[in-house]
Amino acid sequence: MTGFIGSDALRDVWYPVVETGDVADDPVAVRLLGEDHVLWRTSDGRLGAAPDRCPHRESPLSIGSVVEDTLTCPYHGWGFSVDGRCVTVPSSGTGAAVPPAAHLPCMKVQERYGLVWMSPGNPTVDIPGIGQDDDPAFRRINSGMQTWAVSTPRMVDNFLDISHFPWVHTGTFGRAQDTLVPKIELTELDDDWFGYAYEVDAGNPAAAKATTGTDAEVVHRHMSTGFHLPFLTRSTIRYEDGLEHILLLCSTPIDDLTSLFTFVIWRNDDHRTDPEEAIAFDRAIGAEDKRMLERVPGTLPLGRTDLVSVQSDKPSVEWRRRFAEMIGVTGA
Ligand code: FES
Ligand SMILES: [Fe+2]
Repeated sequence: MTGFIGSDALRDVWYPVVETGDVADDPVAVRLLGEDHVLWRTSDGRLGAAPDRCPHRESPLSIGSVVEDTLTCPYHGWGFSVDGRCVTVPSSGTGAAVPPAAHLPCMKVQERYGLVWMSPGNPTVDIPGIGQDDDPAFRRINSGMQTWAVSTPRMVDNFLDISHFPWVHTGTFGRAQDTLVPKIELTELDDDWFGYAYEVDAGNPAAAKATTGTDAEVVHRHMSTGFHLPFLTRSTIRYEDGLEHILLLCSTPIDDLTSLFTFVIWRNDDHRTDPEEAIAFDRAIGAEDKRMLERVPGTLPLGRTDLVSVQSDKPSVEWRRRFAEMIGVTGA
């Protein structure tokens, strides 16, 4: 198995790791690219992010606490300010010099779309835009973080692929879809996304009606699906009646074979549907993908001839080519 998480280029990326509400009074442990980190929040809302290792005797800091805005190690009580400075060494007493190596090498962290994003390096590209986030006609609905026993590149490959809809999604929307995939033209989409636009007839079973807002048996969707390197994908859905449903699918590598997954939705539905009901159908669709992908072992092969592809795989193949180039895999 060839792993990908050791790539230097993947350090300089923003990754969504928890939802904003998940970091409250207590520190939180996060595993990203095979490394353990701690996130914590001060009373005025600022976030700290650092390796989950106390420089003193390596206690995880995530099992400590935040006391008067200071991240406090549970082992000997050393305290750290939100920028990582070691500000308290109780055994040395007040005013004693703190060893320079006692400070934590903090990481970049920011909040966007209801998610906490962190980077272990120096991000060269910002978090991609979602125009609807600033549009008062749309509301945002977050769905919670999940852990999938799936290698992250396999998730992106899947999220860009519509040919699996009538096979994997028979329990949700895929039943009405033609198995034949029309010719795909890749193009720059709006807001920093690259992908393709397409039309699809989707099944509209009882469980989907809260999401689609109609009783029709089959609904016509104008859709686009695109990616933003390395692991974000976005699907936009516009129904004939003007309802729009934007899905941001976030896959974050915990390690080579395990991923965090969350989706965020924006809808211009006048809040007429309960938020949980509005995303229940997407949850069911995600569960179908998870069930399929957790049966596919290992990481996604990145070499050009490692897998057999056909025209419907064009978006996945283009993403894989760009991803392989990004992380320096040759022969992709
Ligand atoms: S291990 Fe953290 S204070 Fe000693
Ligand atoms: Fe799917």
